[in-house]
Amino acid sequence: MSKLWGGRFEKTASDWVDAFGASIEFDAQLVLEDLEGSMAHVTMLGDQGILLKEEVTQILDGLQQLKQKAHAGELKFEVYHEDIHMNLEALLHEAIGPVAGKMHTARSRNDQVATDMHLYLKGRVHEVIQLIESLQQKLHAHASDHVETIMPGYTHLQRAQPISLAHHLLAYFWMLERDKERFTDSLKRIDWSPLGAGALAGTTFPIDRTRSAELLGFNRVYPNSLDAVSDRDFILEFLSNASMLMMHLSRFCEELILWASEEYRFITVSDTFSTGSSMMPQKKNPDMAELVRGKSGRVIGNLMGLLTLMKGLPLAYNKDLQEDKEGMFDTVKTVQGSLSIMAGMMNELTFHPDVMKQATERDFSNATELADYLTAKGLPFREAHEVTGKLVKHCVNERLYLCELPIEVFQSHSTLIEKDVYVALTPEQAVKRRNSYGGTGFDAVREQLKEASECMKMM
Ligand code: ARG
Repeated sequence: MSKLWGGRFEKTASDWVDAFGASIEFDAQLVLEDLEGSMAHVTMLGDQGILLKEEVTQILDGLQQLKQKAHAGELKFEVYHEDIHMNLEALLHEAIGPVAGKMHTARSRNDQVATDMHLYLKGRVHEVIQLIESLQQKLHAHASDHVETIMPGYTHLQRAQPISLAHHLLAYFWMLERDKERFTDSLKRIDWSPLGAGALAGTTFPIDRTRSAELLGFNRVYPNSLDAVSDRDFILEFLSNASMLMMHLSRFCEELILWASEEYRFITVSDTFSTGSSMMPQKKNPDMAELVRGKSGRVIGNLMGLLTLMKGLPLAYNKDLQEDKEGMFDTVKTVQGSLSIMAGMMNELTFHPDVMKQATERDFSNATELADYLTAKGLPFREAHEVTGKLVKHCVNERLYLCELPIEVFQSHSTLIEKDVYVALTPEQAVKRRNSYGGTGFDAVREQLKEASECMKMM
């Protein structure tokens, strides 16, 4: 058996050299996209009179047969044929004979592989967007149930001000909304067709690139053949959007892990998303959340890997580019898996509002309330801050919380303080009244939920 490009060679590579150069082990995943690309290309060649109608019919029939076999899992690929493109051409040859050799007229593997990856990512990005939306729906549902659930809000991981649990959950809703927007926007650039760029310089045949692009559902063609075969920006953009998404999921997981710990006890992660310990009988570990947090690392790694690969490459195709695929496939699998797990985990998550609420009662996260109380009574905020700070110091020394201080102590620090201060200091008041736009006040959060519902109507 000779190589499809064997003409100018005298000696053949050893099997182990072939194996090192081959990509079939992973680019077999592009089988359907490759067949689709070939069908569009051959149809266009027929329309342009470059191939005869009966040749086109024969080739399309053959490709159709291969497609059926691909669906049935019956295609057998050989490392010898290096990649998915040449494996399929060899299989087509077996199926329909020498006319198969006409399929590659006016095409190179360079524009072919780029076309495959554009098609592949287009499909996957739509799937990722849907998965993001189902996670957003779960967050929205929990948020709707917990507008008036009060929990500590943190800065520096120190109790800062009490907030509504819904507000916290919706913060992730909006991160995901931006992720979705980024993926959607990237579709504009994924939607460019490289097909017909040839190896690098175009072709002498009178092809119609717009026609093949149209057949594949792309909305424009790359205007420059060199750029078309050299460009991997669309993959980098996908990896970058995926990294940002995974970073968001990872932060959320980090919080879930903390909240599930004995130190917080804010949530219970369902048994079905946890595992035990082989040694410690009491353990229930939030493994799935830890794994998603961990998997963010490999996605970011895939982005760094491809950026590093690309940065020194001269135009146009270089074999280095074959290394663009595994990180992309791995990222698709990781992102889709992580989003599904997160949605599943959210479904079965139990929040403990009583524990969260208690936490806000045993801290100084109402100190801003006191400062605001004084400010509302006319004291400049900076002075109110100072008075409050002194009262907190007094409490710390006396092992008391602000709401436990006798009125006389308050009044010895400021005569502006009256008995109504005790109401102002409750966590409910602290949360409920923060109704500036985007704030954690109950009314503001209800408005926010409405805005989030508007986004969901577009889903
Ligand atoms: N398997 C190759 C890749 O994934 C296909 C393109 C090969 N082109 C070439 N000129 N060797 O990049």
